[in-house]
Amino acid sequence: MHRIRDCELSAVCDIVPSKLDRYPDLQKFEDSAEMIRSGVVDAVLIATPHYDHTTIGIDAMQNGLHVLVEKPISVHKADCRRLIAAHSDPKIVFAAMFNQRTDPHYKRLRKLVQSGELGEIRRTNWIATQWLRTEAYYASGGWRATWRGEGGGVLMNQCPHNLDLFQWICGMPISVRAFCSFGKYHSIEVEDEVTAYLEYPNGATGVFVTTTAEGPGTNRLEIAGDRGKVVYEDGKIRFTRTERSVKDVVDSSPDSFPSLEVWDCELPVQGWGGQHQEIVQNFVDAIERGEPLVAPAEEGIRSVELANSMLYSTFTNSTVNLPLDENAYEAVLKQKIAESNVQKTVREQAPVDLANSFK
Ligand SMILES: NC(=O)c1ccc[n+]([C@@H]2O[C@H](COP(=O)([O-])OP(=O)(O)OC[C@H]3O[C@@H](n4cnc5c(N)ncnc54)[C@H](O)[C@@H]3O)[C@@H](O)[C@H]2O)c1
Repeated sequence: MHRIRDCELSAVCDIVPSKLDRYPDLQKFEDSAEMIRSGVVDAVLIATPHYDHTTIGIDAMQNGLHVLVEKPISVHKADCRRLIAAHSDPKIVFAAMFNQRTDPHYKRLRKLVQSGELGEIRRTNWIATQWLRTEAYYASGGWRATWRGEGGGVLMNQCPHNLDLFQWICGMPISVRAFCSFGKYHSIEVEDEVTAYLEYPNGATGVFVTTTAEGPGTNRLEIAGDRGKVVYEDGKIRFTRTERSVKDVVDSSPDSFPSLEVWDCELPVQGWGGQHQEIVQNFVDAIERGEPLVAPAEEGIRSVELANSMLYSTFTNSTVNLPLDENAYEAVLKQKIAESNVQKTVREQAPVDLANSFK
C-alpha cells in the first residue's frame, strides 16, 4: 500500500485483535462497521473470508465508501447480486482483485482472441492443476474448505482467477457438466478435484480441470480456433496460425487428408505485470481521475456463476444450463451447510506465507 500513488493506508480492521499489533502507527478497528463509519477511511480493501465480502461490501457502499473486494466477490450468485445491487451510486468505485488480469500473457491471449486473428473459437481446454495445497494449509483457518466458512474448495479459493480469466478471454459458456470430487485427497468436505465440460453459444466446446492435489501441477491453456491454435504453458505463448480458414479447407479441399500450411510463432511477452499493486493503483486512479477499471467488481459474478454451476452440476448429476438458477443454488448450498458435521482442527500457527502462493 505504501507504493500506491495518491493513497494513504490510514486504518486496519481485524476481528482478531492480536493481528493488528503489527500496525502500531495506524488506526485499528475490531469491527468493520465501526471502521466504515469512523470517517477515517474513504475506501476499503476487503480481504476477509469470502462470505463477509458481501456483508462488508454492502455496508461500505451504503455508507459512501469506495470498495475493492478480494476474489471471489461473493460465495454464490445470489449474494453477488445483493452485493452488486448495493452499488447504486455511480460516483462510488467498486472493483475486484482480479490481479491476474494484469499478467501480460493473459492480456495477449485476450487480444489475440478479440482481434479475430485466431478465428472463431472451436475448443478451449484449461488444465489448472498448479494449486497444490496441504492438510497444514487447510488447517490454517477454521473457515477454509468448509461449506459454512468458504462455500466450496478449489473452485472458490484458488480458481476464481482461472475462471475469471477463462471467461474474460473466451466468453461465458451456455452449459456446464462437471464432476467434482469432495475430500478425495484431503480431510475436507468440499471439492479438491474437478473436471468440467463446457458448451459455448457458437457450439464450441471446452474442458476445465483443476485440483489441489497434483504435483507437479500443470497450467496449460489451449484455445483452438478456425485460424489455428494458441497454447499458453510454462510462461510461453505459442501460436500456430493456419494460412487458410480450417472450415474452408474442410468444406472445399479436394484432398482427403490435407496438410495445413501454418506459421508457427512464439508471441513475445515480458514479465508478469503489476499484479495486486497494479489493481490497487488502478482502483485509486479510478477514484481520483475516473480511470477505467481493469476489473469492475460487477464482472466478478461470472467466475462465481461458473464455480457454482460446476458444483451444482455435480450435486444434481446433470447438465446445468446458464444462467444458473441462483435461488436453487443458494438453497442447495444452505442444505450442505445444515448437513455438515465437520469438526475442524485449526492450527492458526500453521505457516501460511501467501507470497509463496503467487510463485
Ligand atoms: N487475489 C489474490 O491473489 C488472493 C490471495 C489470497 C487470498 N485472497 C482472498 O483474500 C481473502 C482472505 O484470504 P486469506 O487467505 O488472507 O485468509 P486469512 O484467514 O489468512 O485472513 C483473513 C483475515 O480476516 C480476518 N477476519 C475474518 N472475518 C473478519 C471480519 N468480519 N472483519 C474483519 N476481519 C475479519 C481474520 O481474522 C483473518 O486475519 C479471501 O477471500 C481470499 O480468496 C486473494
